[in-house]
Amino acid sequence: MLIVRNLTKSFTTPEGAKVRVVDVAEFHLEPGAQVALRGESGSGKTTFLHLIAGILRPNSGSIVIDGTEMTALGESGRDVLRAAKIGYIFQTFNLLQGHTVLENVLLGMSFAPGGVDGARARAMLDRVGLSHRLRHFPRELSTGQQQRVAVARAIANRPKLVIADEPTGNLDNRHTASALDLMKETCRECGAALLLVSHDDATLARFEDVRDFSAINRMDNASRTPWGQPRKPGEAPRRAVE
Ligand SMILES: Nc1ncnc2c1ncn2[C@@H]1O[C@H](COP(=O)(O)OP(=O)(O)OP(=O)(O)O)[C@@H](O)[C@H]1O
Ligand SMILES: [Mg+2]
Repeated sequence: MLIVRNLTKSFTTPEGAKVRVVDVAEFHLEPGAQVALRGESGSGKTTFLHLIAGILRPNSGSIVIDGTEMTALGESGRDVLRAAKIGYIFQTFNLLQGHTVLENVLLGMSFAPGGVDGARARAMLDRVGLSHRLRHFPRELSTGQQQRVAVARAIANRPKLVIADEPTGNLDNRHTASALDLMKETCRECGAALLLVSHDDATLARFEDVRDFSAINRMDNASRTPWGQPRKPGEAPRRAVE
């Protein structure tokens, strides 16, 4: 359901140098697969996921999602495809702080072909154990509960693919295990494939299919320094300006 071929993405550094961050010859996901990519900080994982989700445009290459060529679409076409086929779980959850838990899930449905379905949104929030929190705001929830809202929002549109970018980076070990189990179970229930990236061993250990991102992505060595150095514990993700 996901076929990536000859995908490249480069950024220009503030000094004007062009650095290739993603260079993936071939990557496939079967329907319903659950795959974790292991990769060090700065190795291009988030960039790769943003390309697959159509948030970024590649310089070259092909991304076919459930039969549709993502790279042939303009920005609004990619937004529609993403809403229809992809659920995205971010490390920092990206919940809308001015909206309640229920509204966050409903807004996530508003771009999808199925449209807003209040009963489905409530059912998904019930599924992740938050039916008693529908009218709370994200700041009133624990980190683990916010993560569960993000899971409910990601699966509400019945996606074909759920993408999770370091989704447990802000959770302790016990909550990491339960959050991952919830993601895996809910993806299985709605028939979605799950593609997760992480450099956390406790996270990767919960997947049978763990692939080494450095073997998939032939990025420029130049882009590994200084950004490619492993992050220190607690240090925020680093990001350069395009
Ligand atoms: N918009 C951008 N402009 C310039 N360089 C960028 C941009 N986005 C990412 N990069 C660079 O691309 C490289 C890969 O970044 P990316 O965020 O994809 O890595 P990552 O593997 O997700 O790292 P982390 O584990 O820290 O999240 C880094 O060197 C980063 O500085
Ligand atoms: Mg990242």
